[in-house]
Amino acid sequence: MSTLELENLGKKFGAVVALEPLSLRISDGELICLLGPSGSGKSTLLRIIGGFEMPTGGKVLIDGADVARTPPEKRPTAMVFQSHALWSHMTVEGNIGFGLKLRGLKKAEIAAKVDAALRLVGLADYGKRHPAQLSGGQRQRVAIARCLVLEPKILLMDEPFASLDQHLRDRLREEVRQIQKKLGITTVFVTHGQDEALSIADRIVVMSMGRIEQVGTPAEIYTYPQTPFVAGFIGDMNMLKAVVTSGAARVGDVQLDAPVPDGEALFAVRPEDVTLTPSLNGEGVRVRRIVNYGPVLKIEAEMPDGTLWKVQTLKDVPVTEGACYHPIVSRHIVFREDRAVHRVDPV
Ligand SMILES: Nc1ncnc2c1ncn2[C@@H]1O[C@H](COP(=O)(O)OP(=O)(O)OP(=O)(O)O)[C@@H](O)[C@H]1O
Ligand SMILES: [Mg+2]
Repeated sequence: MSTLELENLGKKFGAVVALEPLSLRISDGELICLLGPSGSGKSTLLRIIGGFEMPTGGKVLIDGADVARTPPEKRPTAMVFQSHALWSHMTVEGNIGFGLKLRGLKKAEIAAKVDAALRLVGLADYGKRHPAQLSGGQRQRVAIARCLVLEPKILLMDEPFASLDQHLRDRLREEVRQIQKKLGITTVFVTHGQDEALSIADRIVVMSMGRIEQVGTPAEIYTYPQTPFVAGFIGDMNMLKAVVTSGAARVGDVQLDAPVPDGEALFAVRPEDVTLTPSLNGEGVRVRRIVNYGPVLKIEAEMPDGTLWKVQTLKDVPVTEGACYHPIVSRHIVFREDRAVHRVDPV
């Protein structure tokens, strides 16, 4: 039962600002994903929480107590790194039990806890093996068990499945989510995979250039991005510049509501929020490319001025390459000065 609060936490490496001072509150049992492009400060933030990096300023409060200057081994945290870093000369049991041995637990107690941890990650019969006798996925499970056995208040994971193939990654991610829920352990999970974040997080923290761009549930982040960065970073998005006059803007022959003062604005439209209806007079957009993605079609259509529209429809909607259509937009967001100022939802 633990909360994690970050207060004005910042980090500079010499002149490089890796993290602008930021604040965040993570609830008991919550799984938070830090999501952002390379260099946005995700690992730095995680390492500060784990004690592997000292912040330049700010607090790391675990259940109200500031641990910002406490060494990692004295914190109630445990971290799973991207590369598993198991000790190759030790058995799986030895690896998992090592931390408990350091804590001075008795042999029988260690054996029982190691056994429970192995069962938790689905490796009940693997205790006597050495890391070299395991697959990459199994090794990463051992790394997770090694953390869980310490019964940390906060579990930290830095791209734990990055080295695994897609299929295994999907499976392990689901398993980790199940275990995390079962134990109710407060977790911070770093990824630059948006699918990963959208599928397991209670809330996503989108980061860019050492700053938090937006914090929200996966649905909020996907449906209501608050900045153009988030809109463009998560999923496919049409980002269209247009001039607003008298409460609306035109992009080609598409009219978009925008009850904001006149002037230039940025419009974000998801491909699945666009429907194409046949154009009889050759106006609208021309379909350049149709790609089959299982049950959906991903369509690229071009306006007369060269502007591209990404459109996604169900497979049974008839669309022909080379033909012209009118795009109809059911949902869009209007940005001004890098902030969302208006949104239109489907009626
Ligand atoms: N020890 C260091 N010394 C100097 N600069 C550093 C150090 N560690 C990180 N940085 C810088 O801090 C910034 C944030 O790095 P960080 O590793 O946190 O990014 P990240 O979001 O984890 O990226 P990635 O997705 O590539 O892992 C980068 O500009 C990086 O170059
Ligand atoms: Mg990183």
